[in-house]
Amino acid sequence: MIEELKNKLNLIETNYTSKIQACKNVKDLQDLQVAAIGRKGELTELLKSLKDLSLEEKKIFGPLSNALKIKLSSLFEAKNAELENAAINEELNKTDLDLTLPAFPFNKGGRHPLAIAQKRMTDILSKLGFIWAHGPFIEDEYHNFDALNIPAHHPARDMQDTFFIKNPHKSDFVLRTHTSGVQIRTMQKQKPPIRIMAPGRVFRKDSLDATHSPVFHQIEGLYVDKNVSLADLKRDLTVFMQGLFGKKAEVRFRPSFFPFTEPSVEVDVKCVFCEGKDKNCPVCKGSGWKEMMGAGIVHPNVLRNCQIDPEVYSGYAFGMGVERLAMFSLGIKDIRAFYENDIRILEQF
Ligand code: PHE
Repeated sequence: MIEELKNKLNLIETNYTSKIQACKNVKDLQDLQVAAIGRKGELTELLKSLKDLSLEEKKIFGPLSNALKIKLSSLFEAKNAELENAAINEELNKTDLDLTLPAFPFNKGGRHPLAIAQKRMTDILSKLGFIWAHGPFIEDEYHNFDALNIPAHHPARDMQDTFFIKNPHKSDFVLRTHTSGVQIRTMQKQKPPIRIMAPGRVFRKDSLDATHSPVFHQIEGLYVDKNVSLADLKRDLTVFMQGLFGKKAEVRFRPSFFPFTEPSVEVDVKCVFCEGKDKNCPVCKGSGWKEMMGAGIVHPNVLRNCQIDPEVYSGYAFGMGVERLAMFSLGIKDIRAFYENDIRILEQF
């Protein structure tokens, strides 16, 4: 019995080895593989007689048939690779394909100039110890106005400036008109010391022209701790401006007004284009200075609204327009250049 089986194994081996060798295409090879070691293949069928053998015979026949199965499988695999390669080569030989030619040129993407500008600013701020904070674009009136000490009759709440979103159930929502609401959201969650920067998109009912856009970007800064003074604000913002415009940049602080800071200042930088020497400078319009941001000492009412005791803590805050700083430092005269996404302009940065 066992001798007979061994003979059959030998027969299968020689038969399929030569057939595999002679095979000319992948399809025939597949059929051959099914016939040999498929679910109903010759070898598989033969293996079924294993159960009728004695234990001794099983010990001989089992390993032999397994070895053959492994051998045939690898022969099929090798032949398959050989046939596939031959098919590819044949295909390649039919066409005039020059694989040594360089590839077609393609456009590489780059960072948007606004993203570049924002990153430069946040990089400097993070070196000054400010950490990221975020707030929602759709704000409630409380965070955008009330908590910031902006009274109900303040012109900034006027329909001219603010996109209101009617809310039939509660008070209206607004598209945030500045990033200052993040000050409130942060102070509600966290007690001093606080040192955050909050970059992001803001919205105002302005029509698009060379210097206005209904959607633009700001970066808010807030520092609250014991004994924070205007001197800290002046030092940090001077360092920031010099980081942005170079060590020689001149910074000027002008008195101003914001409901949520007292005192308030406007921060100007000496025009980097004419250095204040050109009466006809198109960038600073001959004034020699360029307004960069609003800032000030956080109003005690704002701290109180966030359950922070103004007798113990004080802070400074600032808010700047990313577009404005980017236009100034990159020499871009029209804000629309940022949004029209003309590749010829964008790729210059
Ligand atoms: N939120 C002000 C604006 O949008 C800027 C500002 C921020 C001023 C923080 C003072 C302090 O104009």
